[in-house]
Amino acid sequence: MFDHDILVIGAGLAGMRAALAARENGVDVAVLSKVHPVRSHSNAAQGGINAALTERGDTWEDHGFDTVKGSDYLGDQDAIEVMCREAGREVIATEHMGVIYSRDEEGKLGTRAFGGQRQARTFYVGDFTGQALLHVLYEQVMRLDVRVYEEWFVLSLIMEDGECCGAVAMEMRSGEIHVIRAKAVIIAAGGLGRVFEPSTNALICTGDGMSLAYRVGAPLMDMEMVQYHPTTLKSNGALMSEAARGEGAYLINADGERFMERYAPNMMELASRDVVSRSEQTEINEGRGKDGCVFLDCRHLGEKKISESLSQIRELGKDFANVDMLYEPVPIRPGMHYQMGGIKTNVDGETIVPGLYAAGETACVSVHGGNRLGANSLLDTLVFGRRSGEHAAGLVKGKSHKAINDSAANGDREHIQEMLNRDDAEGFGQVRLEMGQVMNQHLAVFREQAGMEEAKSKLVGLRERYASVSVTDKGKTFNTNLIFTLELGFMLDCAEAIAVGATERRESRGAHFRTDMQDRNDENWLKHILLTRGTEGPEISHLPVVITQWTPEARKY
Ligand code: FUM
Repeated sequence: MFDHDILVIGAGLAGMRAALAARENGVDVAVLSKVHPVRSHSNAAQGGINAALTERGDTWEDHGFDTVKGSDYLGDQDAIEVMCREAGREVIATEHMGVIYSRDEEGKLGTRAFGGQRQARTFYVGDFTGQALLHVLYEQVMRLDVRVYEEWFVLSLIMEDGECCGAVAMEMRSGEIHVIRAKAVIIAAGGLGRVFEPSTNALICTGDGMSLAYRVGAPLMDMEMVQYHPTTLKSNGALMSEAARGEGAYLINADGERFMERYAPNMMELASRDVVSRSEQTEINEGRGKDGCVFLDCRHLGEKKISESLSQIRELGKDFANVDMLYEPVPIRPGMHYQMGGIKTNVDGETIVPGLYAAGETACVSVHGGNRLGANSLLDTLVFGRRSGEHAAGLVKGKSHKAINDSAANGDREHIQEMLNRDDAEGFGQVRLEMGQVMNQHLAVFREQAGMEEAKSKLVGLRERYASVSVTDKGKTFNTNLIFTLELGFMLDCAEAIAVGATERRESRGAHFRTDMQDRNDENWLKHILLTRGTEGPEISHLPVVITQWTPEARKY
């Protein structure tokens, strides 16, 4: 058994930012991750991080309004105010830690335009901003001697007297299962992208954090709000950063027409993501695409701009689509990218479960509502990661550990043994694939009741099959067959929550667009949907949206 004041689950940007904040506040903190920290999915964030700096004539209020409008008024405005107010401080803090942001011609921190924003306020490092941030935060984690349990997999959270007091985790190298006792646990385990196939997300994005919290009674909120990014590669769903459009790239259909003129005449390619994705899908559905795609046209940007600012996506296009964006438009289509919903928290990362916090994509502090603006997710990870770490540090001072011991892991040990004892049944792979496909078919850019109901009933069947899947590798060392099977259990919880939330929301808002109910309905649906785990599945409740200074109005770009 191991003891720490705070256990952070996940070593992406939110997790490491939380750990640093807690450590700087004088408590003992450990980070646990199923991959090495610099392999976390934050690595894949390309385009940048938003902040309104007053020196540039920008204001946090303008950033706030753009974020609220982007969210289709579902974001909680108190949380959005916190994020936008604290953005500048957070970007500068990371610069001081060592992030080498791209600069403008005067040598100042450079900005680029991003979707749904009236100002260029996205700070960036080429088109690998997340990677740059992740490496610098990891350096800081090492500098402060934070203990990192790398390649450990969390099986469950430990509850005692109604409080979260640690986690049961498997060391993947040895297969040993341990209890890690903590006075507070911060879940920062990232998103659930792979519940959909394809997705821009890494294979590790399997919703573990959301499911772990849900299983101990924390509600999930806004789970129906799934973002499809407008530019993902046709061949494999890889992300082609919005930075390309920020730098001036066009979207064209098979006739070479800049079709966004028809859908968002003011913002064109830089309308909010939900709007651009729907526009593309309409072009494709109405026969103006080619082989299920439209095109990202960067040819006019020239070699210098592309090599300086878009080098990674140029390589991705060459490697996976056999297209060099310098000379040819790249075939792209909308693809699953981000989960706006997650574990409901307040602005300090607290969930309703005492001792349990959440931050980053796994959480829903409600800054993204129905649609996240590009480059607000890195910001969310840092601001709310830090706030969770600071708050949890205050909580654990003077608190003692709960009297639990190694036997707290016995339930998980038995469950895993039972899984390993099953023979000659179906493996996890086909179940996972069918789940991803049904989600992508019925819970994508356009949705309607019959399709969503079909997805729900298919998920019931997949859950039944999951209950008897077998694990062919019976070994202990790096048993990825077992780990993937366990992940699928988390994913099915998340898939069900998305489908239930989506059928419940009887309107169109943000990324949730129903062809059978096309209007936003503020009178009845300006509210969040919360899902709490019940014996018969998710139990639904509602919560009003927090409105501070921006009254909902029609959303046009
Ligand atoms: O397009 C992008 O670079 C993605 C950024 C984001 O999701 O924030």
